[in-house]
Amino acid sequence: MVSPAIALAFLPLLLTVIIKYRYYFVLLYRAVLVRTWKDCVTGLTREERAYQYVLTHATPGDPDSILDAFDVWCSKVEFISNIGPKKGKILDRLLMEQRPLTVLELGAHCGYSTVRIARSLPLGARLYSIEMDQRNAAIAEKIIRLAGFDDDTVELIVNPSDEVIPCLRSDYNLERLDFVFMDHWKKCYLPDLQMLEGSGLLGKGSMVLADNVLFPGAPKFLRYLRKSGLYEWKIHRATLEYSKGIRDGMAELVYLGIK
Ligand SMILES: C[S@@+](CC[C@H](N)C(=O)[O-])C[C@H]1O[C@@H](n2cnc3c(N)ncnc32)[C@H](O)[C@@H]1O
Repeated sequence: MVSPAIALAFLPLLLTVIIKYRYYFVLLYRAVLVRTWKDCVTGLTREERAYQYVLTHATPGDPDSILDAFDVWCSKVEFISNIGPKKGKILDRLLMEQRPLTVLELGAHCGYSTVRIARSLPLGARLYSIEMDQRNAAIAEKIIRLAGFDDDTVELIVNPSDEVIPCLRSDYNLERLDFVFMDHWKKCYLPDLQMLEGSGLLGKGSMVLADNVLFPGAPKFLRYLRKSGLYEWKIHRATLEYSKGIRDGMAELVYLGIK
C-alpha cells in the first residue's frame, strides 16, 4: 500500500505529465475509447459514419464540397486521419507548382487526399492510389466516384504497397512517377521509398511528399534522407490534422537523380 505522503510527493510529477501530454491523452481518448464505443452503438466503422455524413451533406460532382463535408465531420464530430485542410493546402500548392502527370498515393483511407490530389491535377494526368484495407478502399472508391473522377483519372489499387510498387512498371505501364504522396503506415516509408528508387520510377525532379514525419513520426526515414544524398529535402512544419496542440510536419523531397 502506497503511503499518502509518497502519493503526495508524486502528485506534482503526475500533474506535469498530464499537462505536458494533454493533447495526446485527448487524442487517445477520442481515437480509441470514443471510437470503440461508437462502433458498438452504430454497428458501423468510423469511416462508414464519415461516409454517411459526406453522402448527405456534399454535392455529387463537386470535390470541394466533399472535402468541406469531411473537414466539418472530422473537426467537429469524429477524428479521422485525413491530411486535413491545413496540410492539404501545402499539398495543393506543391501540385499546382509541379503540374505532375503521373502521381502515386500510398494510403487512400477514405479518399480525402485522393480527391484533394485529383482536383489539382492538370488535364490528362493520372493518379494511382494504393490502399490495402478493403473496407477503407470500398469507401475511398465511392468517395472518388462521388467527386466525379473516373477510372481514367484515378485508379484505386487495393493491395499493400510492397506488393504493388514492384509491379507498377509491368502491370500499369508506368515509366516515371512525377509526384508521390506517402501517407500510409510510417514504418513503410523507408522500405517503400527505397523500393521506388530501385524500380527506377523516380526521375530527376520527381517529388515525394511524406506526411506525419514528426507525429507519429518516421525517424528511420528522416535519418535516411540526411545520409543518402539522393534528395534535396525540407520539412513543412504544421500541426496534426484537425488538432491544435500536436506538432507535426511533412517532408518534401526532390529526387536528384542517379549519380
Ligand atoms: C493515414 S491514413 C491515409 C489518409 C489519407 N491519405 C488522407 O489524407 O485522406 C493511412 C491509410 O494507409 C493504409 N495503409 C497503411 N499501410 C499501407 C500499405 N503498406 N499499403 C497500402 N495501404 C496502407 C491504411 O489502411 C490507412 O487506410
